[in-house]
Amino acid sequence: MPDQHTQRYTVTAALPYANGPLHIGHIAGAYLPADIYVRYLRLQGRDVVFIGGSDEHGAAIMLRAKMEGISPQEIIDKYHHLNKDTFERFGISFDMYHRTSAQVHHETSQEFFLKLYEKGEFVEQESEQYYDEKFNQFLADRYIIGTCPVCGYENAYGDQCENCGTSLSPNDLINPKSILSGEKPQLKTTKHWYLPLDKYQPWLEEWLLGGQHSQGKKGIWKTNVYGQCSSWLKAGLQPRAMTRDLDWGVDVPLPEAKGKKLYVWLDAPIGYISSTKQWAADNHQDWEKYWKKQPDEADNATLVHFIGKDNIVFHCIIFPSILHAHGEYILPENVPANEFLNLEGKKLSTSRNWAVWLHEYLDNFPGKEDVMRYTLATILPETKDSEFTWKDFQARNNNELVAILGNFVNRTLVLTYKYFDGTVPEKQSLHPIDEEVLQKMQDLPQQIATAIESYRFREAISLVMDYARMGNKYLADTEPWKLIKTSQERVQTVLNISLQITANLTVLMEPFLPSSAARLRTMLNTEPRTWAQATDTEALAAGHQINKAELLFDKIEDKTVDEQIEKLLGGTPLGGTPLGGIPLGGIPHQARNEAIEQQEVSPAKADIVYEDFAKIDIRIATVLEAERVKKSNKLLQLKLDTGIDQRIVLSGIAKHFTPEEVVGKQVCVLVNLAPRNMVGIDSQGMILMAEDKDGKLVFIQPGDVVSNGSGVS
Ligand code: MF3
Ligand code: ZN
Repeated sequence: MPDQHTQRYTVTAALPYANGPLHIGHIAGAYLPADIYVRYLRLQGRDVVFIGGSDEHGAAIMLRAKMEGISPQEIIDKYHHLNKDTFERFGISFDMYHRTSAQVHHETSQEFFLKLYEKGEFVEQESEQYYDEKFNQFLADRYIIGTCPVCGYENAYGDQCENCGTSLSPNDLINPKSILSGEKPQLKTTKHWYLPLDKYQPWLEEWLLGGQHSQGKKGIWKTNVYGQCSSWLKAGLQPRAMTRDLDWGVDVPLPEAKGKKLYVWLDAPIGYISSTKQWAADNHQDWEKYWKKQPDEADNATLVHFIGKDNIVFHCIIFPSILHAHGEYILPENVPANEFLNLEGKKLSTSRNWAVWLHEYLDNFPGKEDVMRYTLATILPETKDSEFTWKDFQARNNNELVAILGNFVNRTLVLTYKYFDGTVPEKQSLHPIDEEVLQKMQDLPQQIATAIESYRFREAISLVMDYARMGNKYLADTEPWKLIKTSQERVQTVLNISLQITANLTVLMEPFLPSSAARLRTMLNTEPRTWAQATDTEALAAGHQINKAELLFDKIEDKTVDEQIEKLLGGTPLGGTPLGGIPLGGIPHQARNEAIEQQEVSPAKADIVYEDFAKIDIRIATVLEAERVKKSNKLLQLKLDTGIDQRIVLSGIAKHFTPEEVVGKQVCVLVNLAPRNMVGIDSQGMILMAEDKDGKLVFIQPGDVVSNGSGVS
């Protein structure tokens, strides 16, 4: 960073709803990457505040309270404390974990609303909305269920069908029912304040896509994030109501809006600001430096939001519009959103209890928070959905943490005790193999830093493991346990260098494996150091006394992970009560879940004769090029080498794969399908795909590389 000022960062991680516990999907989506990033920035000596907290408003919390017959306050108190504590135990190092029910938050979000109101930003509008006459209240979208007009699923919500994923509005539902009373709701007129996103569209386009005054975010933001933003913009933005008829939330601060609340997606992101205010008040800091535009632009803080992909539109379009409309605030520099994490082949699901709950993990695996941090870091869904399995967790622990990192550290420390009574021996003259290792000790930390600063945390953790691997290989190649018989001097050098690697590992590990890094520092009897010192080849001075080695990691047995798998398979919903949407009004919860789960296998089609089959010409082909098709968000245009020729095929896989992911893949293609013109392009064939039960598409591929043009029969 080319500045004389200390670079200032405001890093936020999505405020989780305080209506349920955290699972590994939340962690892999936002919190672990945010924590890695923040710990790294701190090691770099940057001025960073890491903000989190509970999102305690919104219809889901109120709904849950109604269903369980308790107050929303009871729910948020329970889960705020549980989640805050869980984050702490897992080493997510928030500077402030606040809550949106706090006074300072209500005030801050009301001030925000009033500022926009006084600037005349809102458009006031009356509309007809569903009202439950028995319960005397307007119904939030989530409070209405009915038949999905797209797939016919009977328990679709007013905002979304969870069966087919279509986003809906309550008026789309066939046969709508109130979740509260189970009765048909009535339409009633109500007034709301709308944020004119359509008016901000040109500004957003300039800021996100680029234009005269801005280069946009293309190539800077992750492609999954940029892609979503540009498709929202292409679809055209609509005004969005910033107020709701609800009885739980922040009051709309206008006399004429009695009984109305701020829309949760207005108040929640402002929660980042109020949380920062609380942190500043507690720590004699100036919160405005972390949020407001400074007189000298170079002094502006860098704002980074870590979120999961379902939050992209709110953080990339709506909240920036709000900040922009206010006028005094900085905008996010980056929004590195992750995709979703799956668990043992299925989508994580709170209501079906298909999850690894973090607080339960911490209870069941005491002292092993770093093993989960490590596993998740290696599989973060950075560019596409990824998957956690307990077997992989075990393998990462046993084959990487134990066999590589732990083994290297242990051998180094044990040998130092054995040959030098635990004091760091002096380096002697260097051999080429030593020079080579010393060079890598210069290069790797820089590569790790680059990966972290580019939000490529999977790459970063694998480079940290490479660093340990380098140490392991160095010991294996030099064999100090044999050398000791012939040359004590050589052993001095080898162990000195190995100890320096170990000391530098404490820095490089810190963002990912903070508690192991601290334990390793204790073993080495050394203090925390900065990132810049991670290339130090004299990190431990000759003569320095280290402590006795303890095992950094230990093996996880089959039995342990088998138990977890069993627990998952036999999983009853947490605490006996289902979490998430729990309809009253006679809609069986279980039935709803089962409808989602049992995507039935369709029955076999009518018989054909061999001659029918013989007409079909399927070949192996390689994808040479791929690009998105303008006018369509479903289609990718692929250029294939079919062995027979090179041709263009359109494939409806754009929602499942990025162009980069498919280039180079071998696929099966139906080559004698008559060309079809779609969106103005001739498609010459069809790629064979399978759909798994979660609706994910999978390529049908040869198990080995086969030459293009080979027939499939
Ligand atoms: N509570 C939301 C969710 O879990 C996230 C809110 S992020 C914030 O999806 F910015 F609004 F705070
Ligand atoms: Zn549907």
